[in-house]
Amino acid sequence: MLTIALPKGRIADESLGIFEKIFDRKFVFEERKLILETDNFRFLLVRNQDVPTYVYHQAADVGVVGLDVLEEQKLDLIRLLDLGIGKCKVAIGIKCDEELDLDRPSLKVATKMTNIARDYFSKRAVPVEIIKLYGSIELAPLVGLADIIVDIVETGETMKQNGLKPALTIMESSAHLIANKNSFFAKKDEILSLYEKISGALNGS
Ligand code: PRP
Repeated sequence: MLTIALPKGRIADESLGIFEKIFDRKFVFEERKLILETDNFRFLLVRNQDVPTYVYHQAADVGVVGLDVLEEQKLDLIRLLDLGIGKCKVAIGIKCDEELDLDRPSLKVATKMTNIARDYFSKRAVPVEIIKLYGSIELAPLVGLADIIVDIVETGETMKQNGLKPALTIMESSAHLIANKNSFFAKKDEILSLYEKISGALNGS
């Protein structure tokens, strides 16, 4: 039995779609339920940012989560496979009528991804003040809370609708299959068999 943490929303649906293709059966959560038990798998529905926590503490053996979340949290997990779904970018966003000027003194950066942002600017020796937010990041430059943002861009629609534009890509992200280190050794056959089935399905075999 493998316990698999999935991030609520479209990536969970797409991940279950991959499982349905592999095992030729339906995997559907009942309304508002957070656990789906089947003969071989127990699926958990968790918040995107919580997937690494469940897997790290072995409440789940494997999980599906964006590379951006893995890079932000830096937990000691095994990255098994890029699933190629949930593609997005972590980008610097600025007001549409502005140019990105990293030489500007006392640059204020609003973001929920403080580690990725801090790493990026410190590697380039750009002094910044990081302002941690939990959501609606695009609002910050509009009301003077920050000069720029570091945020997820998927379609670009949220930035556009708020008079912002992506000025620079910090990293590309997509959903990855991850595993807990102990689970990987204790349940190696099960996890590798799943890994092979998923890579086969992704490669169309
Ligand atoms: C992300 C991000 C942007 C939006 C970008 O938030 O913070 O606001 O998606 O998507 P777009 O480019 O397609 O408009 P998300 O909806 O994932 O919610 P969160 O803040 O709860 O992580």
